[in-house]
Amino acid sequence: MIGLKKIGVLTSGGDAPGMNPAIRAVVRKAIFHELEVYGVYGGYTGLISGNIKKLELGSVGDIIHRGGTILHSARCLEFKTKEGQQQGIEQLKAHGIEGLVVIGGDGSYRGAKALTEQGFPCVGVPGTIDNDIPGTEFTIGFDTALNTVIDAIDKIRDTATSHERTFIIEVMGRDAGDLALWAGLSGGAETILIPEEKYDMNEIATRLRKGHERGKKHSIIVVAEGVCSGVEFGKKLEEATNFDTRVSVLGHIQRGGSPTAFDRVLASRLGARAVELLLEGKGGRAVGIEQNRLVDYDIIEALGRRHTLDLDIYKLSQELSI
Ligand code: F6P
Repeated sequence: MIGLKKIGVLTSGGDAPGMNPAIRAVVRKAIFHELEVYGVYGGYTGLISGNIKKLELGSVGDIIHRGGTILHSARCLEFKTKEGQQQGIEQLKAHGIEGLVVIGGDGSYRGAKALTEQGFPCVGVPGTIDNDIPGTEFTIGFDTALNTVIDAIDKIRDTATSHERTFIIEVMGRDAGDLALWAGLSGGAETILIPEEKYDMNEIATRLRKGHERGKKHSIIVVAEGVCSGVEFGKKLEEATNFDTRVSVLGHIQRGGSPTAFDRVLASRLGARAVELLLEGKGGRAVGIEQNRLVDYDIIEALGRRHTLDLDIYKLSQELSI
């Protein structure tokens, strides 16, 4: 944007490891281009209440390796209303902010879309462990969460082997199966349940029994939370097989921790690109990565599209877990 002087940045929705390196990239890239940057604290809730402070180079020092978000986050119902959005725009204008970088998942994008439609330029940066944002192959936080899940699966495998048990591991992902699928494949799970594909309890039980007859005494089953509760599934499976079954629900541990190198690089690239777009006068965009190249697309259109999980990976996981 010609003459752009001040931009804002916020994180919203479920936090994701890598949000801090993304904030750092936005702030440093903006200051590199002689812009002033303002941090909005507490997501859209903080935007409505005007919890906005100027950020300097030092504000983002020593955060590249930290999980969570220094700007804090929230899920804000009020921002779904026109009044809430208008209040947010007034706060931005009162601080002289002319463009906003929104780091978050689909709910955050909907907020950014609403602001854009009302004439306030926003750029979306995909930050969620769910990997469910259309227009990018990877979201910030997915890789770190995946590695957290694998670490848990590896540990559970040790005890599953010792006790000859079947383990159900429930992982996050809301309505998307990416985390379960990638974790299941890389953790060597016998069965992976994802919301994108139906499952058949009889088929799973038969497969487990066959493995048992072959001398396989333990099994790992990864269940995406969007399919059903791991506890419910564990009960049904125990009834169907009579195998000694245990359930681990990994929960919010998947959202924390130091971001992996992959997430730090991704966050740095996407955060910096978002600032470039605002400098080029291109509001109403969302950034992403496809085949290791940075891409951007219309944020309004993007939310009309669906994220698609790679079913080839699902097929592969089935072939390798015979
Ligand atoms: O969107 C990220 C996510 O961790 C989902 O995987 C999960 O369903 C949800 O957030 C949990 O939300 P909350 O932290 O509000 O309980």
